[in-house]
Amino acid sequence: MSTNKKISRRHALKSMGAVVVSSVVASSGVFSLTSFEAKRNKRIILYFTGTGNCLYIARQLAGENTELLSIPQMVKRGKYEFEADEIGIVYPVYGHMPPYMVRQFIQKAKLNAKYKFAVLTYGEMKCDAVEIWDRISRKAGNTFDYIGTIVMVNNWLPGFDMNEQIKIDKHIPENLQKIKTDISQQKHWHEPVTEEERQIHREFIARSGLNPEVGFLMKSEKYFTVTNACVGCGICTYVCPRGNYELTARSVKTSGDCEFCFACIQNCPQRAIQFTKLEDGSFPDGTEKNPNARYRNEHISLMDLKLANNQKK
Ligand SMILES: Cc1cc2nc3c(=O)[nH]c(=O)nc-3n(C[C@H](O)[C@H](O)[C@H](O)COP(=O)(O)O)c2cc1C
Ligand code: SF4
Ligand code: SF4
Repeated sequence: MSTNKKISRRHALKSMGAVVVSSVVASSGVFSLTSFEAKRNKRIILYFTGTGNCLYIARQLAGENTELLSIPQMVKRGKYEFEADEIGIVYPVYGHMPPYMVRQFIQKAKLNAKYKFAVLTYGEMKCDAVEIWDRISRKAGNTFDYIGTIVMVNNWLPGFDMNEQIKIDKHIPENLQKIKTDISQQKHWHEPVTEEERQIHREFIARSGLNPEVGFLMKSEKYFTVTNACVGCGICTYVCPRGNYELTARSVKTSGDCEFCFACIQNCPQRAIQFTKLEDGSFPDGTEKNPNARYRNEHISLMDLKLANNQKK
């Protein structure tokens, strides 16, 4: 993809997608632990997930002595201080940026650990996500020793057909194995970013009109419509990490600040949640690739997602 070429708005939508092959070059400061020490280390992994990819990766990175903690649950409990030998964070990139909740979380968090790692999942184009996380976390006083990315199913409904996405071999086991090895060796490394990737992100921000200091923070009442296909099962009221859905006597209502994680629209069994068509130049505009295709990571159950995201008392 050329750096100078202007991207159209439609291209910006899709380009959270064009393949970027990242070079994997070890840079500095690797040191090994004995397997005995590695086993004794207490590890905490904090995660945010909309459709389960990050929960799956977080589980895969969990060792013998690991506590897995959902960021929405920590936010709900007002818990921001953590202590362990190793602390990791796993989140999905949204427009190459962290979800707003993750951004806010890291600004308040006190992560007391000798070794901190971050693994960012993405669908096809991560751009300078690693540098963006390094900047945000460093500014918050939480510097990460290791920041890597892993490509998964792209759950960005406006640009991708979920039925097509699940057929693509994204070499997850091999890529995951490399990350596991790096982390077990407490490798100090940030995945390299190219100037072209920085440029594509700048163009995306310009085209989408998103505030780079915020990222995707939308309003669920603006972007989602509940149709009369709704059977009142209540799933959306559990899987939303913002608790934006409410069952009323006659229907389901949604409102509030929205992470745009798609947990609601992807998990509604009736496909009763749809994007609202917007003709006022909003990004995105409510069109999607395949309104009949929905996705949740194959290793993650609906119950797992409910437990991860539920905001009810
Ligand atoms: C709002 C939104 C924005 C996204 N932006 C990007 C992006 O910029 N680049 C990319 O490769 N994937 C992007 N994706 C895809 C997700 O990062 C990817 O599918 C991720 O693994 C989802 O994780 P989860 O299943 O834990 O929610 C985006 C997805 C959403 C919902
Ligand atoms: S998940 Fe779908 S069917 Fe169930 S209550 Fe929500 S909108 Fe209705
Ligand atoms: S309303 Fe839907 S997209 Fe928004 S935060 Fe809740 S689950 Fe995620």
